[in-house]
Amino acid sequence: MLPCARRAFEKLARRIVSNGHRVAVYACSATTSYGGQAARIRGVPMGDLILDVQPFASESDYDRMIDYFRLADESQLRAMGVDRHRIPAREEWLARLLPDLERPAPQKQTYYLIWRRDGMPVGHSSANQIVYQEQAFVHLHLWCASQRRGGMGQRFFELSLRMFISQLRLRRVISEPYAENRAPNRVLEHAGFRLARRYRTTPGLINFEQEVNRWELDVTAD
Ligand SMILES: CC(C)(COP(=O)(O)OP(=O)(O)OC[C@H]1O[C@@H](n2cnc3c(N)ncnc32)[C@H](O)[C@@H]1OP(=O)(O)O)[C@@H](O)C(=O)NCCC(=O)NCCS
Repeated sequence: MLPCARRAFEKLARRIVSNGHRVAVYACSATTSYGGQAARIRGVPMGDLILDVQPFASESDYDRMIDYFRLADESQLRAMGVDRHRIPAREEWLARLLPDLERPAPQKQTYYLIWRRDGMPVGHSSANQIVYQEQAFVHLHLWCASQRRGGMGQRFFELSLRMFISQLRLRRVISEPYAENRAPNRVLEHAGFRLARRYRTTPGLINFEQEVNRWELDVTAD
């Protein structure tokens, strides 16, 4: 088990969810079976690895995402522009997000995709501020630091982008990472986004005020 996964498991070792199973956090060793979803990109090879991207299918997917934020240490949160005090309580966050599991694409307020490496959940990408058939803001997270910088984030993000564009019929995709956070800025640039501007804002619910780079991808452009 990877060190960050072990730490997460240790922190949650005594927490039992209502169905009686140990919570499967964002551990790279957790396995989940997913029901048939219309939208999915399966089995894309990257060297010896098989990468899957598909929509969140159950509450446990949201649980892993919430654990990733709630269990992150201060320096990790700071590096991505997140203020721990603004992270909602689990139940509150779930109550906000879970209705989108059932909503059809035109009515979704958020759209979460799980990233799986060789069948193991290892990260997620999300879209919010969605205007169906127009635009959405997107985000990207590979949960374990030890799995970063190997090219997976780029590949997963580009697969997610395809899915967001096709499922939400987007004409424009926007992302506003913390300007000091080099990894997502590089990924967006490599994915063909254009740097529109840099400005100061509070980009999301869980963020502190910060300088962000606004990256835009015009899907209809040649
Ligand atoms: C953003 C993230 C998904 C990228 O995934 P990754 O697997 O680390 O990225 P890749 O290995 O595919 O690298 C893609 C590019 O980013 C660069 N990069 C990755 N991490 C970097 C870092 N810490 N500093 C500088 N460049 C970095 C890579 O060098 C590569 O660019 P290059 O081909 O020009 O060398 C991942 O780093 C992550 O989850 N970070 C924490 C969460 C986060 O900050 N999300 C963004 C919130 S707005």
